[in-house]
Amino acid sequence: MNVLGIETSCDETAVALAREDGVLLANAVRSQIARHGAYGGVVPEIAARAHVETLPDVLRHALGEAGLQWSDIDAVAATRGPGLATSLTVGFQAAKALALRLGKPLLGVHHLEAHLFSILLGPDRFAPERVLPALVLLVSGGHTALVLFEGAGRHRLIAQTVDDAAGEALDKGAKLLGLPYPGGPEIERLARGGNPGAVPFPRGDVHNARRDIRVSHPEYCYSFSGLKTALLYYLKANPITPDDPRLSDLAASYQQAVVDTLAIQVERALRETSVRSLGCAGGVARNAALRGALSAIATKRGIPFLAAAPEVCTDNAAMVAALGAALLASGAEPTPFDADILPHWPL
Ligand code: KG4
Ligand code: ZN
Repeated sequence: MNVLGIETSCDETAVALAREDGVLLANAVRSQIARHGAYGGVVPEIAARAHVETLPDVLRHALGEAGLQWSDIDAVAATRGPGLATSLTVGFQAAKALALRLGKPLLGVHHLEAHLFSILLGPDRFAPERVLPALVLLVSGGHTALVLFEGAGRHRLIAQTVDDAAGEALDKGAKLLGLPYPGGPEIERLARGGNPGAVPFPRGDVHNARRDIRVSHPEYCYSFSGLKTALLYYLKANPITPDDPRLSDLAASYQQAVVDTLAIQVERALRETSVRSLGCAGGVARNAALRGALSAIATKRGIPFLAAAPEVCTDNAAMVAALGAALLASGAEPTPFDADILPHWPL
C-alpha cells in the first residue's frame, strides 16, 4: 500500500510517499523562507498563496521521485491541524480532491502527532514495539511539549509551554540580536566557539508558571517569556553592534539557557515515567547542543535516544504519510469528506 502525504500547516509546502510498512519512497519539501524573511516571520496570506502556487509542482516532483503513477496511490493523508487556517486549507482541500478523484480514503492527521511519529523514521527505522512508549520532547517554532508517545493515535500530553515555544524564544532572541529569520539555526551558527557561561540567563522558572492548563503534569511545564525579556534588558544595558566579538558568547549563553530549560524538565519527567526511550522531534530538534544534552540524559537512564533525522525535524510530509500509513494499518476510520480543518486542534 502506498500513502500520499501532504503538509501545508505553515510555510513549507511538502509532499511525501510512504509504504504501509513505513518505508519512505519520496520526501519533497519546498521552503518559503525567502518570501517571509523580509518580514521577520511567517505572513499567513503570503504562505497560503505560495502553497497554491507550489503544491502541484511538489506533488509531481514527489511522484516522480517515488517512480509511481496516480493509480498506485492507495490513500491520501494530509495535515488537518493545528496550524495557519489559510495554509492548512490549501493542502487539506487538495488532499480531498485527490482522494475523491482517485476513489481512495482520506486521512486528516494531527501535525504534532506526525512530528511524534518522525522519531520512528529515517534510514535505521526503529521497530515501534522495541522503543515505545517513548517520552518525546516536541520542540518547534509554535509548540513545546512533553508527550508520552505509545503509537499511532495513542499519546498523552504530559506538559507544555505556558507562554512562548522554544523555537519562538530562539526566533525572537535572534531578532533582538539583529539576526535573520528563522533564528534557531542563526543562533546555533553564531554560538559555535562562544562561551555558553558568559551571560547568566534565567532557566525558565516553572514555579511561576500557570497551573491551569490541561496537561497531566503541570509541574514539568515550560516558560520561555522571561528569557526573551532578560535578553532585551541585557541588550539595553550592554548595546552590541553586529560585528561585536561578544555576540558569539551572547548567542551561546542564550542557546544554553534554552537547552538547559528544556533538559531540566525532561530529566525530571523521566524519573517518574516508565518509558523504553527518549525522543526529540520538531524544528528545534535539529540543534546539536540540545541533541547532545538529551542524548546524555538518555545514556544516564540507560535508554536509547531517538532524535528525529534532521530532514524530518522541520516541517515535512514524510511524517504525515508515515503516520497516515500506520493509522490505516491500525484500522483507523478514514476522515469524512465534509471534515473541516482544525487550526487549534489540541493534542
Ligand atoms: O517544526 P518547524 O519547522 O515548524 C513549526 O512547526 O514551528 O520548526 C521551526 C523552528 C523555528 O523556530 C527555527 O528557528 C527552529 O525550528 N530551528 C532551530 C534549528 N533549526 C530550526 N532551532 C535551533 N537550532 C536549529 N539548528
Ligand atoms: Zn511543525
